[in-house]
Amino acid sequence: MSPANLARVFITRRLPQVDELEQLRQIAVVETWSERQPPTYSVLLEKVKSIDGLLCLLTDSIDRQLLEIAPSLKVISQMAVGYDNIDIPAATARGVPVGNTPGVLTNATADLTWALLMAAARRIVEAQSFVRGGQWLTWEPTLLLGADLSGSTLGIVGLGRIGQAVARRARGFDMKILYYSRHRLEPSLEESLGVEYAELKTLLSESDFISLHTALSAETYHLIGDRQFQLMKSSAILINTARGSIVDSQALYQALSTNQIAGAALDVTDPEPIPMDSPLLKLDNVIITPHIGSASYQTRAKMAQMAINNLIAGLEGKRLPHCVNDELYR
Ligand code: DGY
Repeated sequence: MSPANLARVFITRRLPQVDELEQLRQIAVVETWSERQPPTYSVLLEKVKSIDGLLCLLTDSIDRQLLEIAPSLKVISQMAVGYDNIDIPAATARGVPVGNTPGVLTNATADLTWALLMAAARRIVEAQSFVRGGQWLTWEPTLLLGADLSGSTLGIVGLGRIGQAVARRARGFDMKILYYSRHRLEPSLEESLGVEYAELKTLLSESDFISLHTALSAETYHLIGDRQFQLMKSSAILINTARGSIVDSQALYQALSTNQIAGAALDVTDPEPIPMDSPLLKLDNVIITPHIGSASYQTRAKMAQMAINNLIAGLEGKRLPHCVNDELYR
């Protein structure tokens, strides 16, 4: 194909080196944003004016205004399973399919959830600082006591793919598992996962560990705030590997700093990155990691492959293998 006939693509960050990138280069002129910080909104506004395909990340805000000035845009491919940064109704109205990367990051994200849950339960980060700070003087019967997993109750909010993968891990630790979800599972699936449906209030008041796995939407924004923290046990530990703004950060700070709950472990914050002057960073009973749920070599490579395959399909006018707004094809 002569360069004049090639599609034009903008990729908003450097991706893992996967063969699919070469396939993409056969059919498109590819521009990749090479800086560590994401392109600003005004850079995106400029880029979309002349491209056919956009491969973006959850840090890129793809809104209605941006879609309105993108006359040749045929496809948006997000390298993530979540897509709350994209105005899907606006993309659908413009006839632009939006792809995402479900499935491939389920286990990696559930693994990180489990690592955070165990680290918070057994105070691993505090223990590490204790040792490095030269405070380990002897074995003490009451030093750095934490919580048992076995025999405790895990409350899972949102029982989609990742929530279910977390439930499977919890079973191996002999935990009772409650879940709250918009859609209740079939009884046979509840049974095979070993989970019990509970209303959110019940789940919050009965769980020792509460793990969030719901997508961010208008309904789930600040789903966990003052009133919800008041329902929790004083020994409860909250884990969030979904989206930061599902939790009201001020209410979380209040709950942690007054020992209304025992601890939290967050892979996501609101905003991201967490500002260095956030009061949460001063607390010992919170662990914070920088949104690394899917960050394994294998998983990120699979996500890049899927995102590029979605992009190629869209550029070629084919149905995206993983399309968020597939009503476009009906
Ligand atoms: C997602 O995919 O939505 C995660 O937050 C990043 O992997």
